[in-house]
Amino acid sequence: MPSAIYPSLQGKRVVITGGGSGIGEGLVRAFAAQRAEVHFLDILDEAEALAAELGDTVHYHRCDLTDPAALAATLEAVGAVDVLVNNAANDDRHRLEDVTPEYWDERMNVNLRHLVLAARAVAPAMRRQGQGAIVNLGSISWHLGQPGMLLYETAKAGIEGLTRALASDLGSDGIRVNCVIPGNVKTPRQSRWYTPEDEAQIVAEQKLKLRIHPEHVAAMVLFLASDDAAACTAHNYWVDAGWL
Ligand SMILES: NC(=O)c1ccc[n+]([C@@H]2O[C@H](COP(=O)([O-])OP(=O)(O)OC[C@H]3O[C@@H](n4cnc5c(N)ncnc54)[C@H](O)[C@@H]3O)[C@@H](O)[C@H]2O)c1
Repeated sequence: MPSAIYPSLQGKRVVITGGGSGIGEGLVRAFAAQRAEVHFLDILDEAEALAAELGDTVHYHRCDLTDPAALAATLEAVGAVDVLVNNAANDDRHRLEDVTPEYWDERMNVNLRHLVLAARAVAPAMRRQGQGAIVNLGSISWHLGQPGMLLYETAKAGIEGLTRALASDLGSDGIRVNCVIPGNVKTPRQSRWYTPEDEAQIVAEQKLKLRIHPEHVAAMVLFLASDDAAACTAHNYWVDAGWL
């Protein structure tokens, strides 16, 4: 768990997409420890237990982020949001030959479209408040040019463009938009793709010889969400232990 406490996050209403596992779960725990009011959106049954464990300031909303109507209804029910963390994604592997128009739409919907729709939904209240923070989760994958996830990497490259465009469109209303770019983070899902030997290889390639955990990413997201980052917008913040 990150050790810093940001007074400006206490009581803030924070929405985290995909907060049910992995980095998202780390974010939910980290914002809960700041005594923020946390709302996380996911499609996992296990997420109920996470919300119950963390108490009544943490709320789980079952919501398929690829369903625009469900996302809009969920965010309307949540109310005015101070911090949006666009975290959810899906890094299924695929080949160029697998890319049909339908598959393109599905991958973009799970990895890119909901970030824009969530931002659109929270922006009016942030504008009225004259402040707000949006943090998007990018990925080192396309910077490395990793094989086997063409559309995920395409979407993740788009998220960096989205970050700069949104920061530009929303900055005059006091809304900050940043992108956090993780390296390889140890999560349950990543063990599908990486053996212990692969993990050791990644650590060997990093400048820092440590395994990255969700709390390392959460530490950066907390800072960017807090008022301590008042002059930070439109940029990428890496948490990759110097892998790239
Ligand atoms: N773990 C890593 O090594 C790594 C590296 C680079 C970038 N990232 C990025 O960090 C973020 C979190 O990654 P992670 O590894 O924790 O991912 P993960 O796959 O472990 O977790 C993603 C969460 O999003 C949820 N989700 C997926 N599709 C959804 C949908 N349609 N509706 C609602 N919820 C949905 C999943 O249920 C899950 O809880 C992602 O944006 C990812 O691209 C992760």
